[in-house]
Amino acid sequence: MTCLSFLFGRNSARGDPELGDELSGVQNVTLYSYKELAIATNDYSPVNKIGEGGFGSVYKGKLRNGQMAAIKVLSADSRQGVREFLTEIQVISDIEHENLVKLYGCCVERNQRILIYNYLENNSLAKTLLGGGHCSIHFTWKTRVKICTGVARGLAYLHEEVRPRIVHRDIKASNILLDKDLTPKISDFGLAKLMPPNMTHVSTRVAGTIGYLAPEYAISGQLTRRADIYSFGVLLIEIVSGRCNTNSRLPIAEQYILERTWQLYERKELVFLVDTALNGDFDAEQACKFLKIGLLCTQDSPKLRPSMSTVVRMLTGERDFDEDAITKPGLITDFMDLKIKTDPMPKQLDNAHLSSSKFNSSGSGTTTESSVWTSAPSSHATFS
Ligand SMILES: Nc1ncnc2c1ncn2[C@@H]1O[C@H](COP(=O)(O)OP(=O)(O)O)[C@@H](O)[C@H]1O
Ligand SMILES: [Mg+2]
Repeated sequence: MTCLSFLFGRNSARGDPELGDELSGVQNVTLYSYKELAIATNDYSPVNKIGEGGFGSVYKGKLRNGQMAAIKVLSADSRQGVREFLTEIQVISDIEHENLVKLYGCCVERNQRILIYNYLENNSLAKTLLGGGHCSIHFTWKTRVKICTGVARGLAYLHEEVRPRIVHRDIKASNILLDKDLTPKISDFGLAKLMPPNMTHVSTRVAGTIGYLAPEYAISGQLTRRADIYSFGVLLIEIVSGRCNTNSRLPIAEQYILERTWQLYERKELVFLVDTALNGDFDAEQACKFLKIGLLCTQDSPKLRPSMSTVVRMLTGERDFDEDAITKPGLITDFMDLKIKTDPMPKQLDNAHLSSSKFNSSGSGTTTESSVWTSAPSSHATFS
C-alpha cells in the first residue's frame, strides 16, 4: 500500500497518468493493488457481491490486515465512472465524521477504478427498512430517531462545517448505510459538488434520483444546499412511514409520498402515515413532528426550507417551529405537468421519458431507479 500523493507525485507509471494529474494533490488515501483486492474478494466472487449501483458493483472483502472492507468496482470503460471516481476521492478523502462512510483507499491499476471503504454490516436503508420485508432488522422508533438525526448531522457537517462546503446531490435510501449498531453513514459521493466560498449556488448538469430531486434544481440546474435538504425531507418521511417515496401499487391518491403527507397534514391525520410495522409502539407526537420537519424541508420555496443544523435542532427538540405554518411541498409531478403542457419540449426531454417518470414504481430502490431525463441506463437522472 502506498500513499497516493507519493505514487502520483513521483511515479505515475503504475497508474493512469491522466488520473495521476488529478489525484496528485490528494492526501490520506491509501493505494491498494488489484491483486490484493482480488484475493480479498475471492476473485470478485458473486457470493461476495453486496450491492449494485449505477456505476459498478460492490463486493465484501477481507483485506490483508484482517479488516473487512466494501470494495466498489467501477465499470471499466465508462468515462462517467471515472469522473465519479475522482469526485468521490477528492471529496471524502480528507473528511471524517461519525455519520459519513470512511474511504480507506483506491486502486487505479491499468483500466481498473476501485474504491475501498469500511464495511458496514447492515447494508443500506433501501435494502433493509424499505426492502419489502426480507429483512431481519426490527427498526424500532428509537432506532429510526437515531437514524434520522444521524443523517441530519452528517449532512449538516457537509453543508456547514467542512470547507469548502459540500453538496451531496444524491441523498436517498440506498446511499444511507448502517453499521452493526445501526448508526447511519452517508455514502456514495460520486455526484457531490464542492461549493466555492461566497457562492450561493453552482450551475451544473442536473443529476440525482427522481423522487428525491428538488424541482427548482431540476428546472434551473442551479444547485444549492437546499436541493440536498429537499432530498433529506423525502428520506425523513420514508424512514418514519417505512415506505418508498413512490409506490405504484397503492391507490392513485397515495402513490407519491409527498402528496400523501401533505393531504394528511392538512387533515391533521399525519399519524396514519407512521409505519404500521411499529405496531403502534412509537411516540406519536414526535413521529408527527418528524413528518412535519420532512414537509418543512420539501417546501416548494427553497428559501423556506430550514438549514440542516436547524433541522438537527428541530429533530432533537432543541428548537421549536410553527407546526401550522408549513407551505405546500414542491412536487416534481407538478413540474412534469407543466412541461407536458408547454410545447415544444426542452432538449432531451420527451414524452416517453416524462411518462416513465410519472409511473416509475420505485424511487428509492438500488437497481430500478428511474433514468427519466435521458435514455442512458443509469440510476441518475441527467440532462443539460
Ligand atoms: N461500505 C459499504 N458497506 C456495505 N455495503 C455497501 C457499502 N458501500 C456500498 N454498499 C452497497 O452497495 C450499494 C451501491 O453502492 P454505492 O456506493 O451507492 O454505489 P453507486 O454509486 O453505484 O450507487 C449500496 O446501496 C449498498 O447496498
Ligand atoms: Mg448509490
